[in-house]
Amino acid sequence: MNSRIRKAVFPVAGLGTRFLPATKAMPKEMLTVVDRPLIQYVIDEARAAGIEHFVLITGRGKGVIADHFDFQIELEATLRERGKTEAVEQLAAFMPTPGQMSFTRQQSPLGLGHAVWCAHDLIGDEPFAVLLPDMIMQADPGCMAEMVAVYNETGGNVIAVEECDPALTNQYGIVGVGKKAGTGGAFEITGMVEKPAPDKAPSNLYINGRYILQPQIFAHLAKQQRGAGGEIQLTDAMIALSKEQPFYGCRFNGRTYDCGSKIGFLTANIAFGLDRPELSSELKQELRELLAKHGG
Ligand code: UTP
Repeated sequence: MNSRIRKAVFPVAGLGTRFLPATKAMPKEMLTVVDRPLIQYVIDEARAAGIEHFVLITGRGKGVIADHFDFQIELEATLRERGKTEAVEQLAAFMPTPGQMSFTRQQSPLGLGHAVWCAHDLIGDEPFAVLLPDMIMQADPGCMAEMVAVYNETGGNVIAVEECDPALTNQYGIVGVGKKAGTGGAFEITGMVEKPAPDKAPSNLYINGRYILQPQIFAHLAKQQRGAGGEIQLTDAMIALSKEQPFYGCRFNGRTYDCGSKIGFLTANIAFGLDRPELSSELKQELRELLAKHGG
């Protein structure tokens, strides 16, 4: 069995109801932070972690995501004609190589667990990564790269976590913290709880949308049991798997922006904009003026 993390799953079949009307005709995963869609950030993050094959779980109305990773012959020809070689190179840089990206369809959005299960044939019998495209990270060297480094030491299953406001644990999946694992900051996960009240939460470390999972997760997902909100939940299958296999938490070096929420998306645009040397000083000036006008 292959134990290296070669493949990653990107579930992009959700309805994005928190972001209506923007997501009525356009996939949430194509929302733009500065100048690139969310899905491009996560594919780049996976690539930086050494992932070789990208599996996208798509659904109705998500065709534009596949188009984003395809050649646009006319656009390229026009850019070349106009001498815009830098733009051509930029577009080429994020293109998958032929055969490196697969698509499968989740016919109805039955939940994240169901979306991941749809990848079982494409993943086969090897450990794999899952990246939620609406969660993007500012991190060095990258959240998934850190997780792969942890996994190479610990094996098992690895989940990235980040601190949240202890009063807001009821909005997240929260983990319990056990013994230190490996040589970095990773630890054994003693339990996972979906959206616990602050006084019942085992910690304030929330699961931020990056996972390395063993293929045995598919046996639990195959039961297709409905959980919170009537959806087939990935967390429920992970809780079941954690009775058979170890799970480790990776407190990665960076920050997550939940771009499925309006505030997370707005903040991400500012944070990633401030990180871009060509935009930073002008953006700061604009922000100062806006804050002054709004009494902040
Ligand atoms: P979310 O729960 O954040 O996405 O799932 P959602 O359901 O689209 O959004 P809201 O809550 O209605 O606003 C995280 C990721 O999992 C995918 C989504 O596309 C998103 O990228 N997902 C979710 C699926 O692929 N299938 C599903 O059935 C549910």
